[in-house]
Amino acid sequence: AIERTFSIIKPDATRRNLTGKINAIFEEAGLRIVAQKRIWMSRQQAKTFYAVHASRPFFHELVDYMCSGPVVVQVLEGENAVARNRELMGATDPAKAAEGTIRKLYGESIQANSVHGSDSPETAAAEIAYFFAGSEIVG
Ligand code: CMP
Repeated sequence: AIERTFSIIKPDATRRNLTGKINAIFEEAGLRIVAQKRIWMSRQQAKTFYAVHASRPFFHELVDYMCSGPVVVQVLEGENAVARNRELMGATDPAKAAEGTIRKLYGESIQANSVHGSDSPETAAAEIAYFFAGSEIVG
């Protein structure tokens, strides 16, 4: 089915000017960028976005990192978009990610792993609604 997923191009990737290269991977895989904006997340936004990880030892560092530079938040649309995007990203830890995946190609560390993608259609809907108004998504 045609789905939407939420994606973030993280500060390590925007710093290295990789937005276009990462977007090309999405587009070549058949995902359509139906919403996109470059923002500098506030600490509050990052904390709320990653609230599910609040009890993890890496939470504080993760929030600092996500606010360390601009990010590009996006809505990607396509066939099985959630799973497709997760295949394109590869494993969370770039050292464990498969060849050709975004995190293998560009990730710097388990934290600075270049991209975020929703883990389920339900999470995707919540993450999209957190960053985008309906009117900003143009399918
Ligand atoms: P993401 O897919 O955005 O979801 C949670 C993020 O936390 C993850 O990517 C990484 O950026 C970060 N993360 C996950 N595990 C660790 C870890 N063990 N140490 C540091 N950061 C982590």
